[in-house]
Amino acid sequence: SKKPVRVAVTGAAGQIGYALLFRIASGEMLGKDQPVILQLLEIPDEKAQKALKGVIMELEDCAFPLLAGVIPTGDPLVAFKDADYALLVGARPRGPGMERADLLAANAQIFTAQGKALDQVASRNVKVLVVGNPANTNAYIAMKSAPSLPRKNFTAMLRLDHNRAASQIAAKTGKAVGDIEKLTVWGNHSPTMYADYRFATIDGKSVKDMINDQVWNADTFLPTVGKRGAAIIEARGLSSAASAANAAIDHMRDWALGSNGKWVTMGIPSDGQYGIPKDVIFGFPVTTENGEYKLVEGLEIDEFSQERINKTLKELQDEQAGVAHLL
Ligand code: NAI
Repeated sequence: SKKPVRVAVTGAAGQIGYALLFRIASGEMLGKDQPVILQLLEIPDEKAQKALKGVIMELEDCAFPLLAGVIPTGDPLVAFKDADYALLVGARPRGPGMERADLLAANAQIFTAQGKALDQVASRNVKVLVVGNPANTNAYIAMKSAPSLPRKNFTAMLRLDHNRAASQIAAKTGKAVGDIEKLTVWGNHSPTMYADYRFATIDGKSVKDMINDQVWNADTFLPTVGKRGAAIIEARGLSSAASAANAAIDHMRDWALGSNGKWVTMGIPSDGQYGIPKDVIFGFPVTTENGEYKLVEGLEIDEFSQERINKTLKELQDEQAGVAHLL
């Protein structure tokens, strides 16, 4: 049987953690033949560590055959030690009266420290997924704080936006969500993201032609996908944790095991393609194979798309400028 791999998860006692850990331990992320050791980081605070202990009791009680060990900790150097995968979920949420700049600064501190810890102790091939918001900028900070690790190892989660877009398109066309190909989401994980179905197909037929409604695209589809998180909070009284955890599983599974030629969306550091400046962590269409992602290049960007891409890029660059002095 395979040697266990080490999977670090931060914010492990949080909402997303609770929807995520059991699925990783059951083999849904890395395969039903891949044992895992979970290295779980929570803030050192007594209450958080106690909650983490409770989650671990439940993990034990699932008796997952693939769960080869669990290491709870309050120390990033322990959590990331030899980590093959790191899911950075824990982040500082916006508190009452907190300005955007305060939020960026609080998270910059967390992701600088975690980037440095990854740099020091993680596997040189560690695959990092940042889920905690602002996810793209947090991933950028972690990447910049880990100069000895390859830049390409740092990614941010746009997959929830991608999956939300797919579900809206399935509902609109009456087709199966699993049959949608070549969908992507450009930019920031925020309401400025640009979900783009111009290239998408279902059974080889153009989704754009099937829908043939630019007003629906601009006035219904994009706002619905962009504000979906807020709509779920409004309905449920809690944020979208299960679908976020599911998207994290999808992102990591496809990165590790391949997407079989299918386009998926990942927030990755730009190398300058599509006019996105180098290092900006941007949602792009990629395919994945042999543990590597590859950008889908050469797509035509029309005027409407360029405007949307410029807007989400501007937001990311403003966020980057807001943390520049902290790096
Ligand atoms: P939560 O508040 O339930 O859990 C977060 C956990 O992280 C808490 O237990 C907290 O103690 C822990 N934490 C905070 N700072 C930490 C640190 N420095 N090290 C380790 N642990 C730390 O929040 P939830 O619902 O689990 O969401 C987590 C994050 O994911 C939030 O930032 C949320 O905005 C983001 N999110 C991102 C999505 C995406 O698509 N990229 C989708 C949904 C949520």
